[in-house]
Amino acid sequence: MRQSFLSAALLAAVAVNSTATPDQHALNNTPLPDRETQRPNVVFILTDDQDVHLDSLEYMPLLRKHLIEKGTQFTKHYCTTAVCCPSRVTLWTGKAAHNTNVTDVSPPYGGYPKFVSQGLNKNYLPVWLQQAGYNTYYTGKLFNAHTILNYFAPFPGGFTGTEFLLDPHTYDYMNSVFQRNKLPPVSHKGEYSTDVLTKKAYGLLAEAVKADKPFFLTLAPIGPHSNINVKDLLTPPFGGIVFDAPIPAKRHENLFPDVKVPRTANFNPDSPSGANWVRELKQLNETNIEYIDHFYRSRLRALQAVDELVEGVIAKLEDYGILDNTYIVYSSDNGFHIGQHRLQPGKSCGYEEDINVPLIIRGPGISANLTTDVVSTHTDLAPTFFELLGIPLRDDFDGTPIPLTKEAIAQAKNSGTRREHVGVEYWGIAGGEGIYDSGLVGPRNNTYKSIRLYGEGYNLYYSTWCSNEHELYNLDDDPGQLNNLLFEEDGPKPSTKPLTLLGYPVSKIVARLDTLLFLLKSCKGQVCVKPWEKLHPEGDVHTLKDALSSNFDNFYEIEQTRVSFTTCQPGYIISAEGPQFDQDGLIFRDGLSWDQWT
Ligand SMILES: *[C@@H]1O[C@H](CO)[C@@H](O)[C@H](O)[C@H]1NC(C)=O
Ligand SMILES: *[C@@H]1O[C@H](CO)[C@@H](O)[C@H](O)[C@H]1NC(C)=O
Ligand SMILES: *[C@@H]1O[C@H](CO)[C@@H](O)[C@H](O)[C@H]1NC(C)=O
Ligand SMILES: *[C@@H]1O[C@H](CO)[C@@H](O)[C@H](O)[C@H]1NC(C)=O
Repeated sequence: MRQSFLSAALLAAVAVNSTATPDQHALNNTPLPDRETQRPNVVFILTDDQDVHLDSLEYMPLLRKHLIEKGTQFTKHYCTTAVCCPSRVTLWTGKAAHNTNVTDVSPPYGGYPKFVSQGLNKNYLPVWLQQAGYNTYYTGKLFNAHTILNYFAPFPGGFTGTEFLLDPHTYDYMNSVFQRNKLPPVSHKGEYSTDVLTKKAYGLLAEAVKADKPFFLTLAPIGPHSNINVKDLLTPPFGGIVFDAPIPAKRHENLFPDVKVPRTANFNPDSPSGANWVRELKQLNETNIEYIDHFYRSRLRALQAVDELVEGVIAKLEDYGILDNTYIVYSSDNGFHIGQHRLQPGKSCGYEEDINVPLIIRGPGISANLTTDVVSTHTDLAPTFFELLGIPLRDDFDGTPIPLTKEAIAQAKNSGTRREHVGVEYWGIAGGEGIYDSGLVGPRNNTYKSIRLYGEGYNLYYSTWCSNEHELYNLDDDPGQLNNLLFEEDGPKPSTKPLTLLGYPVSKIVARLDTLLFLLKSCKGQVCVKPWEKLHPEGDVHTLKDALSSNFDNFYEIEQTRVSFTTCQPGYIISAEGPQFDQDGLIFRDGLSWDQWT
C-alpha cells in the first residue's frame, strides 16, 4: 500500500481524540469527525466544459461563499485530455487516456461502449468505493454515448442509486431524459435540466442519509455545456447538428446583459497564432463576435442554476447534520475557449483555457479560503478520493493524492521535488461549436501530445502535433500563448533561431521537455507521477531546473530519441506514434536521433 505523508497529516487533522489541540479544531471551527466510527462522505459536483480562464467562477457567488471561502481552491489543476468522455474516464479510473484507451466521445475509440469493452465498467472508482464499504450515488451525465438504447447493456457498475441523464437527450436543456436505477428512462420535456437534476440530487441524498453506510454522491449537471437539440440530432441531414449556446433557466435568462468575453491579448488576435489548423483560422468578424459574446453570457446564465444547486446541497447537508463530516469537491471535465486564437467556441485544444479547470475542495481538515498553485491533474482525483476516505492506494493509478492540508501543500512546495508537470494528450478531429462552426468546416486533425510545466522560475507549454509541428510558449511573458518559440515559416521543424529562454538556448530546454514528453506519452503508474526519477534513477533530478544541469547535456541533447508521429490517427494507434518508451528497461525504440529530427 502506498501512503504518503499527506495521509497521515490528514488523518491527524480529521480524527477526533482527546489529545486534539484547539488549533486542529480551529481549522474550520467545527468539531471534527472520528474517521473510525464516522467515515466521511463525499459530494462531488462535476460540471461540463466549465472554464477557469473565461472567469466563470467570478459569476458564481454561492459557490464562492460556500466552497471557495470555506475550502481550498487549486488554481493549477488540469485535465489531461480536453474533451468530455476521455476526461471523465480518466477521472473515474485515475488513469491517463493512453492507459484506458477511451480517447473519443463515441465508438470506435470512445464513449460508453468503449468504456465497457475496455473492462473498465468493473474496474473504476464507484466499484472500488463500494468494495471499501461506501454507498455510491450518481445523477447527471456519466459518459457520452450512454443512451436510451444501451443504458442496460450493461448497466453502469458500482452504483447504489442512480439517476442518469441519457443520450441523445443529454444536452437538450429543455428536453432531458433521466433513467433511475434499473427502471426505464423518463422524459422531462419542458422542465429545466439542471433543476430536474437538483431534485434528483436531493432525492439521492435523502436515500444516502437513511442508509447505514458512508456515501459518495456525484452530481453531474450539463451546465455550462452547449445546447444540442434532440430534434436536430434525429432529423436528417445529420451532418448539421448545432452545438448552440446553452439555455439558462427562465429566471436567469436576462442576467449579465452587458457582459462580454474577456478581451485578453489572445482574444481574436490580429495575427494568426498556435500551430496546425489553429494557425489557419481567419479573424472573426463583428457578427461572429456578437454571437460569441451572446454564447458567453448564455454560459454564465446556465451556470446560475448550478450555483443554486451548490447552495441547496450545502443547506441539505447542514439540515441532516452531516456537513462537517462531508467533503464537497467541485470540478469540471475540461475547460473551454471562446474566441481565443480566433477559435469558435469549443474545447479539445491544449491551450490553457481548455486544460486548466476548476478544483475546489471543502471538508474536514481542508483549509478555509486558501488558494494554492500546487500542480495537479484529473489523474490525481481518484487517488485523492482514496486518500480522503482512508482507502489504500492502487498501484495502477497514474496519479497521486493531491496535497490538501496547508502543511502538506507547503511541504510539497518546499521539498525540492515539487510536481511541475501535466501530461496532456488528444486524438482525433477538432470540432468547434456554435452556429459558425458545427458541421461547416472540414475535419481537422487534432492529434497531439503536450506538457504543461509550472515550477519555480518557469511556466511553459510544449506540444508536438501529429503533423510534427511543435509549440513552445513561455507563459510568464506570454500568458495568452501567442508567441510560439518553435514556429518556422517554412515548415514543421523546431526553430533554429538563436533564441534563449530562462537564460539557456531554447534547444537545450526543448531537449529536456521532449524527453519528458517521451516518457509521459506512454507512462504507467508512478512513472507518470515521477518521470524525472525514471530518467535519473540515481535520484538527483526532480525538476526541469535539475535536468538543465550541463552534466546532462549529452544525455538529453545527443542520446535521447524524439517524440514524433508518422501519421495523424483518430485514435491511439501505436504504430503511428513513432518511437516508444519501454517502461521496464528505459529503452527508446526505433528512435530518430536529435540530428535527424532537427
Ligand atoms: C462573418 O463571419 C461569419 C463566419 O465566418 C460568416 O458566416 C458571415 O457571413 C460573416 N459576416 C459578414 C457580415 O461578413
Ligand atoms: C478570503 O480571503 C480573501 C483574500 O485573502 C479575503 O479578502 C477575504 O476576506 C477572505 N474571506 C473570508 C470569508 O475569510
Ligand atoms: C489528416 O491526417 C491524415 C493522415 O496523416 C492526412 O492524410 C490528411 O491529409 C490530414 N487532413 C488534414 C485536413 O490535414
Ligand atoms: C485502442 O483502441 C482502438 C480501437 O479499438 C484500437 O484500434 C487500438 O489498437 C487500441 N490501442 C491500443 C494501444 O491498445
